[in-house]
Amino acid sequence: MANENLGAARKAKNDEFYTQFHDIEKEMGAYLDYDSEVFRGKTVLLPCDDPEWSNFTKYFAQNFQRLGLKKLISTSYAPNSKPKELNLQPTLFELESPQFDEEKAAANGKIFTLTRDTTGDDVINVDDLEWSYLDGDGDFRSEEITRLRDEADVIITNPPFSLFREFLAWIIEANKQFVIIGNMNALTYREVFPLIRDNRLWLGNGFHKGNAYFATPTTREYADGVFDEETGLVKFRNALWFTNLDHGRRHQPLPLMSEADNLKFSKHKEVKGTGYTKFDNYEAIEVPFTDAIPSDYKGVMGVPISFLDKYSPEQFEIIGLIAGNIRGLAGIPTSTGKDGPYVGGKLKYGRILIRHKKVEK
Ligand SMILES: C[S@@+](CC[C@H](N)C(=O)[O-])C[C@H]1O[C@@H](n2cnc3c(N)ncnc32)[C@H](O)[C@@H]1O
Repeated sequence: MANENLGAARKAKNDEFYTQFHDIEKEMGAYLDYDSEVFRGKTVLLPCDDPEWSNFTKYFAQNFQRLGLKKLISTSYAPNSKPKELNLQPTLFELESPQFDEEKAAANGKIFTLTRDTTGDDVINVDDLEWSYLDGDGDFRSEEITRLRDEADVIITNPPFSLFREFLAWIIEANKQFVIIGNMNALTYREVFPLIRDNRLWLGNGFHKGNAYFATPTTREYADGVFDEETGLVKFRNALWFTNLDHGRRHQPLPLMSEADNLKFSKHKEVKGTGYTKFDNYEAIEVPFTDAIPSDYKGVMGVPISFLDKYSPEQFEIIGLIAGNIRGLAGIPTSTGKDGPYVGGKLKYGRILIRHKKVEK
């Protein structure tokens, strides 16, 4: 049931899910392992955040000097613009700040910036963050936050799930580097898939075993095993990192067996002894499991969407997607006029169409 949470969150506009520090640290670590200079001299914007305690802000403020950042900007959304039942009150930090303003505390977003040592201890860290109220409520679509987007080099956040499409479009239209969290379903969105096919967006390093746990202040009912009252964490099964920053895992080729070996040794009964069938409506073979992709097949192969987590652009070319309403993206005419991938008259789940770049001899 956990995988239904993002859908449910969208319906109820429940966007209050906070990312854990170690997930952020592990994900950023993957980009830094690949290129230790990836953030050097950059302005990093963390929109849709809650700078007073967000782990994104904490991570980048703590690592400001090590990463060689030029500037860190973090913005939050006004309490009045969030669901009422959250009943958000200013924190002690805000109440005790000289710039505290009761009206603005409710109606305005906040901006935190970090560029220099303000405390005089010769280090730049979380204690040097400077803050003020935004003019508006911090909506990422506002002119105020869009100006900050334009100033930034890299945009990093866990955006509101209910506005994922809009948020991604907002980043892409400005041609920025980004690392954001989203749901696996987004991979097949009309706005997202072409970016994946064209290697302008890919999956990040990922959450441990594909399970993501977010902190939430909401107390609505969850299915069994989804919400842990002791930790306050909600489990999502299909949360992913979407990025255009490079990382090592993306360049590791999938180890694969030949077609003949799959027929003999595949651990999947659907493949062993049976081999591969062709789609009724596409000139491609159906490969029901990513680890059953034959290493020596020259033509087009339809593979599960989860293949994208193993995709290396040196190994494969992505040709298209056959998933109901966006089959046109496949660029392959359908012979039957039916939607989606059909095999032996049966509809299969969405498939990504791929081809080996170099076929093994
Ligand atoms: C999924 S939460 C993530 C918060 C934080 N980035 C983190 O990962 O810990 C998304 C946040 O975006 C805020 N939000 C919702 N709609 C927004 C909008 N239009 N503009 C900016 N922020 C928004 C929500 O109130 C919520 O705090």
